[in-house]
Amino acid sequence: TKFTADRLLLFGATGDLSRRMLLPSLCALDADGLLDPQIEIVGTARSDLDDAAFRNFARESLEQFLPADRRGGMATFLNRLSYQSLDASKPEGFGDLAAKVGTPAEGLAIFLSTAPSLFEPTIHGLAAGGLAGERTRIGLEKPLGTDLKSSRVINDAVATAFPEDRIYRIDHYLGKETVQNLLALRFANMLFEPLWNAAHIDHVQITVAETVGLEGRVAFYDDAGALRDMVQNHMLQLLALVAMELPVSYDSTNVRDEKVKVLRSLRPVAHGETVTGQYRAGAIGGQAVPGYDDELGKDSDTETFVAIKAHIDNWRWKGVPFYLRTGKRLPKRTTEIVVQFRPIPHSIFTGRGARIAPNRLVIGIQPAENITLSLMTKVPGLDREGFGLRSVPLEITMPDAFAGPQRRIAYERLLLDLVEGDQTLFVRRDEVEAQWDWIDAIRAGWEEHSLEPKTYTAGSWGPSASIALAERDGVTWHE
Ligand code: BG6
Repeated sequence: TKFTADRLLLFGATGDLSRRMLLPSLCALDADGLLDPQIEIVGTARSDLDDAAFRNFARESLEQFLPADRRGGMATFLNRLSYQSLDASKPEGFGDLAAKVGTPAEGLAIFLSTAPSLFEPTIHGLAAGGLAGERTRIGLEKPLGTDLKSSRVINDAVATAFPEDRIYRIDHYLGKETVQNLLALRFANMLFEPLWNAAHIDHVQITVAETVGLEGRVAFYDDAGALRDMVQNHMLQLLALVAMELPVSYDSTNVRDEKVKVLRSLRPVAHGETVTGQYRAGAIGGQAVPGYDDELGKDSDTETFVAIKAHIDNWRWKGVPFYLRTGKRLPKRTTEIVVQFRPIPHSIFTGRGARIAPNRLVIGIQPAENITLSLMTKVPGLDREGFGLRSVPLEITMPDAFAGPQRRIAYERLLLDLVEGDQTLFVRRDEVEAQWDWIDAIRAGWEEHSLEPKTYTAGSWGPSASIALAERDGVTWHE
């Protein structure tokens, strides 16, 4: 059903995501006139607050997390907010919640950013309270389970009250402009697509490096680890966008059909094609930081770093490794994709200084938003020793190319799409399940071989085994 929601119900409204991302995004959308002018937003969580206290909480969040020049509509926005306290693990409170939400003129959008253990009772409560009708759609924040089995339990529970076309599973990486730009780069240019295959591409690297450590998410992170926290969702989505076939059109069915084909073509990872690590005390940017054990307050064998050599078994990618790595407490925050082309088949340049480096396309996702293509170029001069060559970058820097539009939070795009009903940038059930299937097999392999994470010093690029994983194929991680 096509409708623009004029009521929004936020579960986990006093949580960290709400404070940092959801409330600021909604306020920014509202200020730009992108939400229904009559929209009402009901927050709910266990905390015992009234409307005024919730508005105060929201005001403080906005002051902290929304840049001052985007807070113009704050007073109007705060007036749209109300609050109902609820223990979502019990059915009792949902009647009051439904009364608070009332009957929207157009439709209702619900967003769950709560502990996954609350998903099931919440869905039942919503259905029993009459909040899951045809003009309701629901957004689900990660983590959706910890493996295929538990994700199925959640997906089954949600499916009892909502059909797939009203379920919006968030992967906030899809809300990032630079991630959406991967599709523009590939499918709005003639230049790359004919070369985007095993005949011309040597390998692909995807790095998601973070400098932060646990950030106080002690219990959650120690149960999850880097593989489930970052690879299962964000990195596999990036991989799918890089590797997928041309969709029939840019819409939710066609784009997701192509992504899921890639995810299902992932070859089970062989033992020896993954490296795990856990950081020890070190320094980042001259600042001393503690080791993972110290932050956690106990010993743990959770990986805070993982590197994987992945293969996609299809015609386009046969024989092209995709090297993935992600970790906490690495030297800098950077997410980038490197597409390394094959060497030229034959060089006519034989003189000194004529070493030819293969072309590389480096796509900066964050914080640098740029696209760099390295091209071999003649070194100017009258050198008698022959034709000098050097690799020179051809670069687009997004903030320079687009000075006008302001930077948006990834959740602005996603919340707007939830409210308006566009699923293209949300993850379909078959995608999530294909992702978990591949991840579960990796974890089973670790268990079978009793793999323990290798240590690395905070502020380094992970265990040396990660360097070796690439180097034994003659590949160097791009830094
Ligand atoms: C989250 C992970 O999904 O993504 C965090 O749970 C991680 O551990 C975060 O820090 C990274 O997101 P971003 O947008 O900062 O790259």
